Amino acid sequence: MNRRLYIETYGCQMNVYDTRAIVDRLRAEGYSQVESPAQADVILLNTCAVRDNAEQRVMGRIGELMRHKKERPEVVLGVVGCMAQRLGRSLHEKRRAVDLVVGTDRYDRLAELIDGVMRDGSPRFDVSADGVTTYQATPERDPLNNSHFISITRGCDYKCTFCIVPYTRGPLRPKEPAAVLGEVRAVVDVRGGVEVTLLGQNVTAYRHEDADFADLLAAVAETEGIRRVRFLTNHPRDLSQKVIDTIAAHEEVSPWLHLPIQSGSDRILRRMKRGYRLRDYLDVVERCRRSLPEVSFSTDVIVGFPGESDEDFEETLTVMRQMRYDSAFTFKYSPRPGTPAARLADDVPEEKKNERLYRLNALQEELWEEKARSLVGSRWEVAIEGEDLKGRGYLRGRTLNNRKVLVPAREGLSRGDEILVRVTGVQATTFFAENLGLLWKYDRVAA
Ligand code: SAH
Ligand code: F3S
Repeated sequence: MNRRLYIETYGCQMNVYDTRAIVDRLRAEGYSQVESPAQADVILLNTCAVRDNAEQRVMGRIGELMRHKKERPEVVLGVVGCMAQRLGRSLHEKRRAVDLVVGTDRYDRLAELIDGVMRDGSPRFDVSADGVTTYQATPERDPLNNSHFISITRGCDYKCTFCIVPYTRGPLRPKEPAAVLGEVRAVVDVRGGVEVTLLGQNVTAYRHEDADFADLLAAVAETEGIRRVRFLTNHPRDLSQKVIDTIAAHEEVSPWLHLPIQSGSDRILRRMKRGYRLRDYLDVVERCRRSLPEVSFSTDVIVGFPGESDEDFEETLTVMRQMRYDSAFTFKYSPRPGTPAARLADDVPEEKKNERLYRLNALQEELWEEKARSLVGSRWEVAIEGEDLKGRGYLRGRTLNNRKVLVPAREGLSRGDEILVRVTGVQATTFFAENLGLLWKYDRVAA
């Protein structure tokens, strides 16, 4: 059998990883992956449900993809991921062209369900929970930023009141340390990789028997051949001193912390059930700054959560000024059916949400520009990730604390190499730098 699979991924990095796990499984059943839906026998959308606009995009995309089914009715159109989990069979009722809806825990059954649709043309649904605890995937040949994603957990045990994730991805399930380390080894041995990014909705909550996240992080960093380890997302409430000390003790571990704050107002944080007050958040940050001289922070912020007053929002702006994040992912609150917050009145008018989002982004941009300018002249170690995506005669690289740097392309310098640079300028979030010399030459052979 040779079936052709086309798959599109929406949402977070964990979905990118899951897509690979799906492709692995279907490859083992004789599928090959193709680059366009027009060539495919099976079209899958791996979806996100975290905000309504993420779902609307997928709905629009289903509308576009329907024409492939019109032309070739035997094509199977499937939706997997968080939106599939949330909507189940009703997704088919809304969009008849969808003949397969498979939830986040059931990719083990995907091949069998596709076979079923192909056999009799009738739709198949499986969004049952707890099918698998975690997925494993073989490392990619050519990951975008030269960093190999490895999921270490699935799901989340917290119940932030706005968040659909605990419902679509289920409770926290850790991957066994031996399985994680096996994937890390494969990155080094099979792909000649030097860098991994450990993924989870909340990696800092990782625990498997006696091993906590700090133990796992140390073991990954100590794997022979690994030169850099990144990880996300962190939760302010369980970013322990042990994790901070582990970062400090390993030169391979990135001192970049994606630490979602969501709001600067204790009143709103309480209504979100985030499990910390602003003071606790700032305490963690303070401890990180003390132990990690090169630490950089990024964050997520929601504006317009139910009941957010002008004063609450001002408190968010104040903490942005205090924090001076490297970057902030900012969102308008979007009620998710079935979450506790969806029972509260979505009472911040749309124009107010827009205005707050605009002010927040403008402030972040202004703060970052000021900070970025102050970094010009710095000497940084940079790992080369590849060609500049805009083809301007530069190579792009990244510092261990996650700052993007462009250096002039030069004979003999390539992906994987590590160099010392001096920063000469900055444009938005990209720094320009001169190459002061090679620190480490990439010396692996990739399979
Ligand atoms: N811990 C997770 C969070 C998942 S959702 C992680 O891995 O990042 C990512 C971000 O989306 C959240 O931090 C939050 O800022 C935002 N978000 C989640 N639910 C939302 C909602 N209902 N409306 C608006 N933004 C939301
Ligand atoms: Fe969502 Fe909160 Fe977990 S944002 S993923 S419920 S930590």
